Amino acid sequence: MFPKEVYWQRRKFLRDLVGEGLILFPGNEESAMNYKSNTYHFRQDSSFLYFFGINKPGFYGVCDVDSGKDTLYGDNFTMGDIIWMGDQPSVSELADDVATDTSDTLAALASVLQKAIQSGRKIHMLPAYRGDQIISLAGYMGVSCEEVSSFHSESLIGAVVKLRAVKDSYEIAEIEKAVDVAGIMHTTAMKMGFAGNFERELSGSIEGIALAHGGPVSFPVILSMNGQILHNHYHGNELVDGRMVVCDAGAETSMCYASDITRTFPVGGKFSSRQKDIYNLVLKANTDTIPESIPGRTYRAVHLMAAKIIANGLKDLGIMKGDMEEAVAAGAHALFFPHGLGHMLGLDVHDMEGLGENYVGYSDAIKRSDQFGLAYLRMGRELETGFVMTNEPGCYFIPALIGQWKSEKKFEQFINYDKVDSYLDFGGVRIEDDVLITKTGSRVLGTPIPKTVDDVEETMNAK
Ligand code: GLY
Ligand code: MN
Repeated sequence: MFPKEVYWQRRKFLRDLVGEGLILFPGNEESAMNYKSNTYHFRQDSSFLYFFGINKPGFYGVCDVDSGKDTLYGDNFTMGDIIWMGDQPSVSELADDVATDTSDTLAALASVLQKAIQSGRKIHMLPAYRGDQIISLAGYMGVSCEEVSSFHSESLIGAVVKLRAVKDSYEIAEIEKAVDVAGIMHTTAMKMGFAGNFERELSGSIEGIALAHGGPVSFPVILSMNGQILHNHYHGNELVDGRMVVCDAGAETSMCYASDITRTFPVGGKFSSRQKDIYNLVLKANTDTIPESIPGRTYRAVHLMAAKIIANGLKDLGIMKGDMEEAVAAGAHALFFPHGLGHMLGLDVHDMEGLGENYVGYSDAIKRSDQFGLAYLRMGRELETGFVMTNEPGCYFIPALIGQWKSEKKFEQFINYDKVDSYLDFGGVRIEDDVLITKTGSRVLGTPIPKTVDDVEETMNAK
């Protein structure tokens, strides 16, 4: 937990931004896997963690904006709980750890919420995303499950995004810890990247590294020789020479801050010249756009810089042709780079995505594009000091998409389909770092993780 003043200050800023009413933060409950007492790994709600800090199931936080008082609601452990789970701090001790004014029981929460509703007070809630949570909320509020969404509050979403988007030094230190664990995960995967090993052996080993460092992975490991499938969670293939492995994986710290790193490496430890060509153009898109990620510039502009670097690299290889400014403006490069350059990172790997991607990544001034490819950019708005962004360009040869565009003769003036056909067995390359936007520019977080062709090959072949 951070010092208690951190949580107090965050809630004060939040109350000032929201202006009136009650703000309700439901924490998460345990979630049953195959029977009630065999549960999934418990993951606290990220906004509850941000404002109330307690990483345990069964708590609710309320900020009363009108009185300026914050209350933690939960029930104390019973003797039965203590016998099975061990001694636990009381609700009032936990409330003190995060500097709330008072604490009370869940029965008291129901009475506070129902009174507020009856007297017409505004209750602000973030969008609920778990079915069990909606059922519990309906019970405490005395409304139907369908009515729970009527308490979702745009002013609360706006205020939470404003606060959580800018990371303080405690949060940056946590994310750097998560990146350093990811560094060990990725170099381990590289060292195992030899023919005869199975993808699942690599993914299982790196997931174990995250766990051994105190947190789970921050999202299910993406690791595959079929890197052209952007989020490939199938790990059943035996590695074969001539292919590359895309590994997109991160760790979560014990305080639930995430890293999100991608590296691509050749099975056998040596890139072929064809692999090197594509790898180096993705690397250039990554390394050249990180210093361009500066306060005041939109991330859409940075994304388009990356797209142009990739398109120009593909033109040099004879895969694209014509004017690359025009090709990128038209969206032709998206055949090879169909996703966005990156997203915010923090307590969620796609930070705050549950609040609504457009609230996080777009603004009144910059709206999401509906062009294929650009539409997947999760974050298009202006960068600000303290944002943490992923920078993750990629280049893929997706047979189904290539086949569709070719049959439609789509962008024939920009794409050399005959040449593209010789890459149908290539797979894909993605390279991703986690980047802090600073006052004067940007900084890649954590200890550097091998990224150049030479560094990746050296890491793979080190004895
Ligand atoms: N690391 C997976 C993603 O960014 O979507
Ligand atoms: Mn990512």
